[in-house]
Amino acid sequence: MSTVNFYRPEEQVPLEMHKVRVVQKLFLLPVEERLQKMKEAGNNTFLLQNKDVFMDMITDSGVNAMSDNQVAAMSIADDSYAGSETCNRLISAIEEVFGTKYFLPAHQGRACENILAETFVKPGQFTLMNFHFTTTKAHITRVGGSVIELVGKKGLEPQNDELFKGNFDISRLKQTIKDLGAKNVAFVRIEAGTNLIGGQPVSLQNMLEVAKICKENGILSILDASLLQDNLYFMKTREEMCKDMSIKDIMHKLGATMDIIYFSARKLGFARGGAIISNNESYILKMKEYIPLYEGFLTYGGMEVRSMEAMAVGLRETLDMEIISQGPKFIQYLVDELDKYGVPMIKPAGGLGAHVNAGEILPHVPHSQYPAAALATAFYIASGVRGMERGTLSEQRNPDGTEHYAELELVRLAVPRRVFTLSQIKYCADRVKWVYDNRNLIGGLRWEDEPSVLRFFFGRLQPIGDWQEKLVEKFRKDFGDSL
Ligand code: F0G
Repeated sequence: MSTVNFYRPEEQVPLEMHKVRVVQKLFLLPVEERLQKMKEAGNNTFLLQNKDVFMDMITDSGVNAMSDNQVAAMSIADDSYAGSETCNRLISAIEEVFGTKYFLPAHQGRACENILAETFVKPGQFTLMNFHFTTTKAHITRVGGSVIELVGKKGLEPQNDELFKGNFDISRLKQTIKDLGAKNVAFVRIEAGTNLIGGQPVSLQNMLEVAKICKENGILSILDASLLQDNLYFMKTREEMCKDMSIKDIMHKLGATMDIIYFSARKLGFARGGAIISNNESYILKMKEYIPLYEGFLTYGGMEVRSMEAMAVGLRETLDMEIISQGPKFIQYLVDELDKYGVPMIKPAGGLGAHVNAGEILPHVPHSQYPAAALATAFYIASGVRGMERGTLSEQRNPDGTEHYAELELVRLAVPRRVFTLSQIKYCADRVKWVYDNRNLIGGLRWEDEPSVLRFFFGRLQPIGDWQEKLVEKFRKDFGDSL
Protein backbone atom coordinates (compact mmCIF):
# COMPACT_ATOMS: atom_id res chain seq x y z
CA MET A 1 0.00 0.00 0.00
CA SER A 2 1.33 3.41 -0.85
CA THR A 3 1.56 5.98 1.93
CA VAL A 4 0.92 9.64 1.20
CA ASN A 5 2.63 11.85 3.75
CA PHE A 6 1.68 15.50 4.19
CA TYR A 7 4.49 18.10 4.30
CA ARG A 8 3.06 19.43 7.60
CA PRO A 9 2.45 16.28 9.71
CA GLU A 10 0.01 18.14 11.95
CA GLU A 11 -2.27 18.56 8.90
CA GLN A 12 -2.19 14.85 8.03
CA VAL A 13 -5.66 13.47 7.28
CA PRO A 14 -6.78 10.32 5.46
CA LEU A 15 -6.53 11.04 1.75
CA GLU A 16 -9.19 9.66 -0.58
CA MET A 17 -7.76 7.67 -3.49
CA HIS A 18 -10.87 8.27 -5.59
CA LYS A 19 -12.87 11.23 -6.86
CA VAL A 20 -16.61 11.91 -6.75
CA ARG A 21 -18.48 11.95 -10.05
CA VAL A 22 -22.14 11.59 -9.07
CA VAL A 23 -23.65 13.33 -6.05
CA GLN A 24 -26.93 13.36 -4.14
CA LYS A 25 -28.29 16.55 -2.58
CA LEU A 26 -28.72 16.44 1.19
CA PHE A 27 -31.14 18.36 3.40
CA LEU A 28 -30.67 19.42 6.99
CA LEU A 29 -33.94 20.28 8.72
CA PRO A 30 -34.11 22.85 11.55
CA VAL A 31 -33.77 21.32 15.01
CA GLU A 32 -37.48 21.76 15.88
CA GLU A 33 -38.43 19.74 12.79
CA ARG A 34 -35.84 17.11 13.60
CA LEU A 35 -37.48 16.67 16.99
CA GLN A 36 -40.88 16.35 15.32
CA LYS A 37 -39.56 13.76 12.82
CA MET A 38 -38.00 11.75 15.65
CA LYS A 39 -41.35 11.66 17.44
CA GLU A 40 -43.13 10.59 14.25
CA ALA A 41 -40.54 7.81 13.87
CA GLY A 42 -41.38 6.44 17.33
CA ASN A 43 -37.88 7.35 18.55
CA ASN A 44 -36.49 4.58 16.39
CA THR A 45 -33.90 5.74 13.86
CA PHE A 46 -34.93 2.86 11.55
CA LEU A 47 -38.33 4.52 11.13
CA LEU A 48 -36.97 7.90 10.00
CA GLN A 49 -37.42 8.81 6.35
CA ASN A 50 -34.17 9.35 4.50
CA LYS A 51 -35.38 12.74 3.19
CA ASP A 52 -35.32 13.92 6.81
CA VAL A 53 -31.77 12.67 7.41
CA PHE A 54 -28.63 14.72 6.75
CA MET A 55 -25.92 12.08 7.15
CA ASP A 56 -27.21 8.54 7.05
CA MET A 57 -24.86 6.59 9.30
CA ILE A 58 -27.31 3.85 10.23
CA THR A 59 -25.39 1.21 8.33
CA ASP A 60 -22.78 0.48 5.70
CA SER A 61 -24.99 -2.25 4.28
CA GLY A 62 -25.88 -1.83 0.61
CA VAL A 63 -25.16 1.91 0.76
CA ASN A 64 -21.49 2.14 -0.15
CA ALA A 65 -20.59 4.19 -3.21
CA MET A 66 -19.90 1.92 -6.18
CA SER A 67 -16.88 2.29 -8.44
CA ASP A 68 -17.17 3.32 -12.08
CA ASN A 69 -16.22 -0.25 -13.02
CA GLN A 70 -19.03 -1.68 -10.92
CA VAL A 71 -21.59 0.63 -12.49
CA ALA A 72 -20.24 -0.19 -15.97
CA ALA A 73 -20.45 -3.93 -15.29
CA MET A 74 -24.12 -3.59 -14.33
CA SER A 75 -24.98 -2.66 -17.90
CA ILE A 76 -23.82 -6.01 -19.31
CA ALA A 77 -25.93 -8.14 -16.94
CA ASP A 78 -27.45 -11.25 -18.52
CA ASP A 79 -30.86 -11.84 -17.01
CA SER A 80 -31.63 -15.20 -18.55
CA TYR A 81 -33.22 -17.43 -15.92
CA ALA A 82 -30.98 -20.43 -16.54
CA GLY A 83 -27.41 -20.58 -17.83
CA SER A 84 -26.81 -16.88 -17.16
CA GLU A 85 -23.44 -15.44 -18.15
CA THR A 86 -23.69 -13.08 -15.18
CA CYS A 87 -23.76 -16.08 -12.87
CA ASN A 88 -20.69 -17.53 -14.61
CA ARG A 89 -18.84 -14.25 -14.23
CA LEU A 90 -19.68 -14.10 -10.52
CA ILE A 91 -18.56 -17.71 -10.01
CA SER A 92 -15.21 -16.97 -11.63
CA ALA A 93 -14.75 -13.80 -9.55
CA ILE A 94 -15.43 -15.79 -6.35
CA GLU A 95 -13.06 -18.53 -7.49
CA GLU A 96 -10.37 -15.97 -8.22
CA VAL A 97 -10.80 -14.11 -4.95
CA PHE A 98 -11.39 -16.96 -2.47
CA GLY A 99 -10.06 -19.92 -4.44
CA THR A 100 -13.23 -21.90 -3.66
CA LYS A 101 -14.99 -24.18 -6.13
CA TYR A 102 -18.65 -24.24 -5.10
CA PHE A 103 -21.14 -21.41 -4.78
CA LEU A 104 -24.76 -20.93 -3.83
CA PRO A 105 -26.46 -17.56 -4.36
CA ALA A 106 -28.81 -15.98 -1.82
CA HIS A 107 -30.54 -12.63 -1.72
CA GLN A 108 -28.53 -11.32 1.25
CA GLY A 109 -26.53 -12.39 4.31
CA ARG A 110 -29.45 -13.37 6.52
CA ALA A 111 -30.81 -15.58 3.75
CA CYS A 112 -27.52 -17.52 3.89
CA GLU A 113 -27.99 -17.76 7.66
CA ASN A 114 -31.51 -19.07 7.23
CA ILE A 115 -30.24 -21.84 4.98
CA LEU A 116 -27.26 -22.67 7.20
CA ALA A 117 -29.48 -22.85 10.30
CA GLU A 118 -32.12 -24.92 8.54
CA THR A 119 -29.53 -27.37 7.15
CA PHE A 120 -27.12 -27.77 10.02
CA VAL A 121 -28.82 -26.89 13.33
CA LYS A 122 -31.03 -29.46 15.06
CA PRO A 123 -33.28 -28.54 18.01
CA GLY A 124 -31.27 -28.54 21.25
CA GLN A 125 -27.91 -28.10 19.51
CA PHE A 126 -25.42 -25.35 20.24
CA THR A 127 -23.60 -23.06 17.88
CA LEU A 128 -20.36 -21.53 19.12
CA MET A 129 -19.17 -18.16 17.90
CA ASN A 130 -16.92 -15.29 18.86
CA PHE A 131 -20.05 -13.12 19.03
CA HIS A 132 -23.58 -13.32 17.73
CA PHE A 133 -25.07 -11.08 15.09
CA THR A 134 -28.77 -10.21 15.41
CA THR A 135 -30.00 -12.01 12.30
CA THR A 136 -27.69 -14.99 12.86
CA LYS A 137 -29.02 -15.58 16.35
CA ALA A 138 -32.62 -15.09 15.28
CA HIS A 139 -32.29 -17.84 12.62
CA ILE A 140 -30.50 -20.25 14.95
CA THR A 141 -33.00 -19.84 17.78
CA ARG A 142 -35.90 -20.10 15.33
CA VAL A 143 -34.88 -23.68 14.48
CA GLY A 144 -34.39 -24.60 18.16
CA GLY A 145 -30.65 -24.08 18.49
CA SER A 146 -28.80 -21.75 20.81
CA VAL A 147 -25.75 -19.52 20.68
CA ILE A 148 -22.71 -19.54 22.96
CA GLU A 149 -20.31 -16.61 22.65
CA LEU A 150 -16.61 -17.18 23.16
CA VAL A 151 -14.98 -13.87 22.36
CA GLY A 152 -11.93 -13.15 24.54
CA LYS A 153 -12.52 -11.07 27.69
CA LYS A 154 -10.67 -8.12 26.18
CA GLY A 155 -13.17 -7.99 23.32
CA LEU A 156 -15.85 -6.80 25.70
CA GLU A 157 -13.80 -4.09 27.36
CA PRO A 158 -14.69 -0.74 25.82
CA GLN A 159 -11.09 0.43 25.64
CA ASN A 160 -7.76 -1.35 25.63
CA ASP A 161 -4.90 -1.87 23.23
CA GLU A 162 -5.88 -5.33 21.99
CA LEU A 163 -5.54 -5.24 18.20
CA PHE A 164 -7.82 -8.21 17.53
CA LYS A 165 -10.68 -7.80 19.96
CA GLY A 166 -12.87 -10.14 17.92
CA ASN A 167 -10.61 -13.14 18.62
CA PHE A 168 -11.99 -16.32 20.14
CA ASP A 169 -10.78 -17.32 23.56
CA ILE A 170 -9.17 -20.54 22.34
CA SER A 171 -9.05 -22.31 25.69
CA ARG A 172 -12.73 -21.56 26.34
CA LEU A 173 -13.55 -22.88 22.88
CA LYS A 174 -11.75 -26.16 23.62
CA GLN A 175 -13.33 -26.43 27.07
CA THR A 176 -16.83 -25.67 25.77
CA ILE A 177 -16.55 -28.36 23.09
CA LYS A 178 -15.37 -30.80 25.76
CA ASP A 179 -18.21 -29.86 28.13
CA LEU A 180 -20.96 -29.99 25.51
CA GLY A 181 -19.65 -32.93 23.50
CA ALA A 182 -18.81 -32.33 19.83
CA LYS A 183 -22.01 -33.99 18.59
CA ASN A 184 -24.07 -31.34 20.34
CA VAL A 185 -22.28 -28.55 18.51
CA ALA A 186 -23.93 -27.81 15.16
CA PHE A 187 -21.11 -25.57 13.99
CA VAL A 188 -18.57 -22.98 15.04
CA ARG A 189 -19.09 -19.61 13.40
CA ILE A 190 -16.31 -17.08 13.13
CA GLU A 191 -17.55 -13.56 12.50
CA ALA A 192 -14.94 -11.42 10.77
CA GLY A 193 -15.08 -7.76 11.80
CA THR A 194 -17.21 -8.64 14.83
CA ASN A 195 -20.16 -6.33 14.35
CA LEU A 196 -21.82 -5.95 17.73
CA ILE A 197 -18.65 -5.35 19.73
CA GLY A 198 -17.61 -2.46 17.51
CA GLY A 199 -16.58 -3.95 14.16
CA GLN A 200 -13.54 -5.50 15.83
CA PRO A 201 -11.23 -7.73 13.76
CA VAL A 202 -10.24 -11.36 14.23
CA SER A 203 -6.64 -12.29 13.45
CA LEU A 204 -5.83 -14.77 10.71
CA GLN A 205 -3.95 -16.82 13.24
CA ASN A 206 -7.01 -17.03 15.50
CA MET A 207 -9.27 -17.99 12.60
CA LEU A 208 -6.86 -20.76 11.57
CA GLU A 209 -6.61 -22.06 15.13
CA VAL A 210 -10.39 -22.18 15.47
CA ALA A 211 -10.70 -24.05 12.18
CA LYS A 212 -8.04 -26.52 13.32
CA ILE A 213 -9.90 -27.22 16.57
CA CYS A 214 -13.09 -27.74 14.56
CA LYS A 215 -11.33 -30.23 12.30
CA GLU A 216 -9.88 -32.15 15.27
CA ASN A 217 -13.37 -32.44 16.75
CA GLY A 218 -15.26 -33.14 13.53
CA ILE A 219 -17.21 -29.88 13.86
CA LEU A 220 -18.14 -27.68 10.91
CA SER A 221 -16.27 -24.36 10.69
CA ILE A 222 -18.19 -21.47 9.17
CA LEU A 223 -16.78 -18.02 8.44
CA ASP A 224 -19.19 -15.10 8.25
CA ALA A 225 -17.18 -12.95 5.85
CA SER A 226 -19.70 -10.10 5.63
CA LEU A 227 -17.28 -7.72 7.36
CA LEU A 228 -14.13 -9.38 6.05
CA GLN A 229 -13.09 -6.37 3.98
CA ASP A 230 -12.12 -4.15 6.94
CA ASN A 231 -10.82 -7.23 8.73
CA LEU A 232 -8.42 -7.85 5.83
CA TYR A 233 -7.06 -4.33 6.19
CA PHE A 234 -6.44 -4.93 9.90
CA MET A 235 -4.78 -8.30 9.24
CA LYS A 236 -2.50 -6.67 6.71
CA THR A 237 -1.60 -3.70 8.88
CA ARG A 238 -1.59 -5.27 12.35
CA GLU A 239 -0.63 -8.92 12.01
CA GLU A 240 2.91 -10.19 11.70
CA MET A 241 1.99 -13.37 9.79
CA CYS A 242 0.17 -11.31 7.12
CA LYS A 243 2.99 -8.85 6.43
CA ASP A 244 4.31 -10.87 3.49
CA MET A 245 0.95 -12.13 2.29
CA SER A 246 -1.14 -10.36 -0.34
CA ILE A 247 -4.85 -9.80 0.34
CA LYS A 248 -5.47 -12.58 -2.17
CA ASP A 249 -3.13 -14.93 -0.28
CA ILE A 250 -5.10 -14.29 2.91
CA MET A 251 -8.46 -14.84 1.21
CA HIS A 252 -7.23 -18.04 -0.44
CA LYS A 253 -5.94 -19.29 2.88
CA LEU A 254 -9.39 -18.72 4.38
CA GLY A 255 -11.09 -20.32 1.38
CA ALA A 256 -8.91 -23.41 1.73
CA THR A 257 -9.29 -23.67 5.52
CA MET A 258 -12.93 -22.95 6.36
CA ASP A 259 -15.54 -25.61 5.67
CA ILE A 260 -18.05 -22.96 4.61
CA ILE A 261 -17.85 -19.21 4.04
CA TYR A 262 -20.90 -16.99 3.64
CA PHE A 263 -21.32 -13.27 3.29
CA SER A 264 -23.61 -10.37 2.78
CA ALA A 265 -22.56 -8.69 -0.49
CA ARG A 266 -24.25 -5.57 0.81
CA LYS A 267 -20.99 -5.23 2.75
CA LEU A 268 -18.31 -7.43 1.20
CA GLY A 269 -18.07 -6.41 -2.44
CA PHE A 270 -19.94 -3.05 -2.11
CA ALA A 271 -23.00 -4.41 -3.88
CA ARG A 272 -26.16 -6.24 -2.82
CA GLY A 273 -26.81 -9.93 -2.44
CA GLY A 274 -25.28 -12.86 -0.64
CA ALA A 275 -23.34 -16.05 -1.19
CA ILE A 276 -22.44 -19.35 0.44
CA ILE A 277 -19.19 -20.84 -0.80
CA SER A 278 -17.13 -23.93 -0.05
CA ASN A 279 -14.54 -26.31 -1.39
CA ASN A 280 -16.57 -29.24 -0.16
CA GLU A 281 -19.33 -30.30 -2.52
CA SER A 282 -21.16 -32.39 0.05
CA TYR A 283 -21.97 -29.35 2.22
CA ILE A 284 -23.21 -27.48 -0.82
CA LEU A 285 -25.41 -30.39 -1.90
CA LYS A 286 -27.05 -30.43 1.52
CA MET A 287 -28.05 -26.77 1.19
CA LYS A 288 -28.69 -26.64 -2.53
CA GLU A 289 -32.39 -27.56 -2.48
CA TYR A 290 -33.22 -24.63 -0.22
CA ILE A 291 -32.04 -22.09 -2.80
CA PRO A 292 -34.88 -22.61 -5.31
CA LEU A 293 -37.27 -23.03 -2.37
CA TYR A 294 -36.47 -19.81 -0.50
CA GLU A 295 -34.36 -17.66 -2.80
CA GLY A 296 -34.71 -18.24 -6.53
CA PHE A 297 -33.13 -20.39 -9.20
CA LEU A 298 -29.50 -21.43 -8.70
CA THR A 299 -28.27 -18.86 -11.21
CA TYR A 300 -29.43 -15.86 -9.16
CA GLY A 301 -30.81 -16.92 -5.75
CA GLY A 302 -33.07 -13.91 -5.41
CA MET A 303 -30.41 -11.42 -6.45
CA GLU A 304 -30.95 -8.87 -9.14
CA VAL A 305 -28.51 -9.75 -11.96
CA ARG A 306 -27.09 -6.24 -12.13
CA SER A 307 -26.15 -6.52 -8.46
CA MET A 308 -24.39 -9.79 -9.25
CA GLU A 309 -22.25 -8.04 -11.85
CA ALA A 310 -21.45 -5.25 -9.37
CA MET A 311 -20.60 -7.89 -6.79
CA ALA A 312 -18.19 -9.70 -9.12
CA VAL A 313 -16.28 -6.46 -9.76
CA GLY A 314 -16.55 -5.36 -6.11
CA LEU A 315 -15.07 -8.63 -4.87
CA ARG A 316 -12.09 -8.25 -7.19
CA GLU A 317 -11.66 -4.66 -5.98
CA THR A 318 -11.46 -6.01 -2.43
CA LEU A 319 -7.97 -7.22 -3.33
CA ASP A 320 -6.81 -3.58 -3.63
CA MET A 321 -5.47 -2.12 -0.35
CA GLU A 322 -6.10 1.43 -1.57
CA ILE A 323 -9.77 0.59 -1.91
CA ILE A 324 -10.23 -1.36 1.30
CA SER A 325 -8.26 1.03 3.49
CA GLN A 326 -10.57 4.02 2.97
CA GLY A 327 -13.24 2.81 5.41
CA PRO A 328 -10.96 1.91 8.33
CA LYS A 329 -8.95 5.14 7.87
CA PHE A 330 -12.04 7.37 7.96
CA ILE A 331 -13.36 5.45 10.96
CA GLN A 332 -10.03 5.86 12.73
CA TYR A 333 -10.16 9.60 12.02
CA LEU A 334 -13.69 9.93 13.46
CA VAL A 335 -12.78 7.88 16.55
CA ASP A 336 -9.61 9.95 17.07
CA GLU A 337 -11.54 13.24 16.80
CA LEU A 338 -14.12 12.09 19.33
CA ASP A 339 -11.46 10.65 21.59
CA LYS A 340 -9.66 14.01 21.55
CA TYR A 341 -12.91 15.63 22.67
CA GLY A 342 -13.14 13.13 25.54
CA VAL A 343 -16.18 11.25 24.22
CA PRO A 344 -16.00 7.60 25.40
CA MET A 345 -15.51 5.49 22.30
CA ILE A 346 -14.85 1.83 21.60
CA LYS A 347 -11.09 1.63 21.12
CA PRO A 348 -9.06 0.70 19.22
CA ALA A 349 -11.12 1.91 16.27
CA GLY A 350 -12.51 -1.07 14.37
CA GLY A 351 -14.20 -1.38 11.01
CA LEU A 352 -17.78 -0.65 9.97
CA GLY A 353 -18.12 2.60 11.91
CA ALA A 354 -17.35 4.55 15.05
CA HIS A 355 -18.97 3.18 18.19
CA VAL A 356 -19.90 5.57 20.96
CA ASN A 357 -20.13 4.11 24.45
CA ALA A 358 -23.62 5.22 25.50
CA GLY A 359 -23.44 3.19 28.70
CA GLU A 360 -20.57 5.34 29.92
CA ILE A 361 -22.03 8.63 28.69
CA LEU A 362 -25.42 8.08 30.30
CA PRO A 363 -24.80 6.25 33.60
CA HIS A 364 -28.02 7.85 34.89
CA VAL A 365 -30.10 5.97 32.26
CA PRO A 366 -30.51 2.28 33.25
CA HIS A 367 -30.33 -0.58 30.69
CA SER A 368 -34.10 -0.95 31.05
CA GLN A 369 -34.53 2.56 29.60
CA TYR A 370 -32.31 1.85 26.58
CA PRO A 371 -29.52 4.42 26.98
CA ALA A 372 -28.02 3.71 23.54
CA ALA A 373 -31.37 4.15 21.78
CA ALA A 374 -31.94 7.38 23.74
CA LEU A 375 -28.50 8.68 22.73
CA ALA A 376 -29.19 7.81 19.07
CA THR A 377 -32.33 9.99 19.18
CA ALA A 378 -30.32 12.81 20.79
CA PHE A 379 -27.69 12.61 18.00
CA TYR A 380 -30.36 12.88 15.35
CA ILE A 381 -32.07 15.81 17.07
CA ALA A 382 -28.74 17.61 17.46
CA SER A 383 -27.35 16.95 13.99
CA GLY A 384 -29.66 15.22 11.55
CA VAL A 385 -27.14 12.35 11.68
CA ARG A 386 -28.83 8.98 11.82
CA GLY A 387 -26.93 6.36 13.81
CA MET A 388 -28.14 3.05 15.18
CA GLU A 389 -28.67 1.58 18.61
CA ARG A 390 -26.43 -1.40 19.31
CA GLY A 391 -27.30 -2.31 22.88
CA THR A 392 -30.13 -3.81 24.90
CA LEU A 393 -32.79 -2.77 22.39
CA SER A 394 -31.00 -4.82 19.69
CA GLU A 395 -31.12 -7.93 21.93
CA GLN A 396 -33.93 -10.47 22.02
CA ARG A 397 -35.79 -10.90 25.32
CA ASN A 398 -35.03 -14.10 27.31
CA PRO A 399 -37.51 -16.97 26.82
CA ASP A 400 -39.18 -15.99 30.14
CA GLY A 401 -39.82 -12.45 28.84
CA THR A 402 -37.21 -10.68 30.95
CA GLU A 403 -34.76 -8.31 29.31
CA HIS A 404 -31.39 -9.60 28.13
CA TYR A 405 -29.13 -6.68 28.97
CA ALA A 406 -26.43 -6.09 26.38
CA GLU A 407 -22.77 -6.38 27.35
CA LEU A 408 -22.17 -2.98 25.79
CA GLU A 409 -24.62 -0.12 25.21
CA LEU A 410 -23.37 1.42 21.98
CA VAL A 411 -24.48 3.88 19.35
CA ARG A 412 -23.00 2.94 16.03
CA LEU A 413 -22.15 5.66 13.56
CA ALA A 414 -21.51 3.56 10.47
CA VAL A 415 -19.26 5.02 7.82
CA PRO A 416 -20.51 3.94 4.39
CA ARG A 417 -17.50 3.76 2.11
CA ARG A 418 -16.65 6.67 -0.20
CA VAL A 419 -19.98 8.34 0.63
CA PHE A 420 -19.02 11.16 3.00
CA THR A 421 -16.33 13.79 2.73
CA LEU A 422 -13.96 14.55 5.57
CA SER A 423 -15.77 17.84 6.34
CA GLN A 424 -18.99 15.90 6.89
CA ILE A 425 -17.16 13.52 9.21
CA LYS A 426 -15.85 16.58 11.09
CA TYR A 427 -19.39 17.99 11.36
CA CYS A 428 -20.59 14.68 12.78
CA ALA A 429 -17.80 14.66 15.38
CA ASP A 430 -18.57 18.26 16.36
CA ARG A 431 -22.28 17.59 17.00
CA VAL A 432 -21.52 14.38 18.90
CA LYS A 433 -19.26 16.49 21.12
CA TRP A 434 -22.15 18.91 21.77
CA VAL A 435 -24.43 16.03 22.73
CA TYR A 436 -21.73 14.68 25.01
CA ASP A 437 -21.36 18.07 26.72
CA ASN A 438 -25.13 18.11 27.26
CA ARG A 439 -25.44 14.48 28.31
CA ASN A 440 -27.01 15.36 31.65
CA LEU A 441 -30.10 16.59 29.81
CA ILE A 442 -30.67 13.19 28.19
CA GLY A 443 -33.14 10.73 29.70
CA GLY A 444 -34.44 7.28 28.81
CA LEU A 445 -37.06 5.69 26.55
CA ARG A 446 -39.92 3.29 27.15
CA TRP A 447 -41.91 1.08 24.77
CA GLU A 448 -45.02 2.23 23.02
CA ASP A 449 -45.12 -0.80 20.73
CA GLU A 450 -42.67 -3.70 21.09
CA PRO A 451 -42.53 -6.36 18.35
CA SER A 452 -41.56 -9.87 19.47
CA VAL A 453 -38.89 -10.50 16.81
CA LEU A 454 -36.06 -8.14 15.75
CA ARG A 455 -37.77 -5.41 17.72
CA PHE A 456 -35.11 -2.81 16.95
CA PHE A 457 -36.23 -2.69 13.32
CA PHE A 458 -39.85 -1.65 13.83
CA GLY A 459 -40.47 -1.01 17.54
CA ARG A 460 -41.83 2.39 18.64
CA LEU A 461 -40.74 4.13 21.83
CA GLN A 462 -41.46 7.29 23.81
CA PRO A 463 -39.13 9.51 25.79
CA ILE A 464 -39.55 9.35 29.55
CA GLY A 465 -40.33 12.99 30.38
CA ASP A 466 -39.68 16.08 28.24
CA TRP A 467 -35.90 15.79 27.96
CA GLN A 468 -35.94 16.00 24.17
CA GLU A 469 -37.69 19.41 24.27
CA LYS A 470 -35.09 20.60 26.80
CA LEU A 471 -32.33 19.43 24.46
CA VAL A 472 -33.83 21.46 21.60
CA GLU A 473 -34.05 24.55 23.85
CA LYS A 474 -30.39 24.17 24.74
CA PHE A 475 -29.47 23.68 21.08
CA ARG A 476 -31.12 27.00 20.19
CA LYS A 477 -29.30 28.71 23.04
CA ASP A 478 -25.92 27.38 21.91
CA PHE A 479 -26.30 27.41 18.11
CA GLY A 480 -28.55 30.50 17.57
CA ASP A 481 -30.36 30.22 14.25
CA SER A 482 -28.03 27.57 12.80
CA LEU A 483 -29.53 24.48 11.23
N1 F0G B 1 -23.49 -10.98 9.31
C1 F0G B 1 -22.96 -9.82 9.70
C2 F0G B 1 -21.66 -9.79 10.43
C3 F0G B 1 -23.62 -8.62 9.41
O1 F0G B 1 -23.09 -7.46 9.79
C4 F0G B 1 -24.84 -8.66 8.70
C5 F0G B 1 -25.58 -7.45 8.41
C6 F0G B 1 -25.36 -9.91 8.32
C7 F0G B 1 -24.64 -11.05 8.64
C8 F0G B 1 -26.65 -10.04 7.59
O2 F0G B 1 -26.50 -9.61 6.28
O3 F0G B 1 -28.01 -7.61 6.08
O4 F0G B 1 -27.24 -8.86 4.07
O5 F0G B 1 -28.87 -9.87 5.59
N2 F0G B 1 -25.36 -6.35 8.97
C9 F0G B 1 -26.08 -5.11 8.65
C10 F0G B 1 -25.62 -4.00 9.55
C11 F0G B 1 -27.56 -5.25 8.64
O6 F0G B 1 -26.20 -2.91 9.44
O7 F0G B 1 -24.68 -4.16 10.32
P1 F0G B 1 -27.72 -8.94 5.46
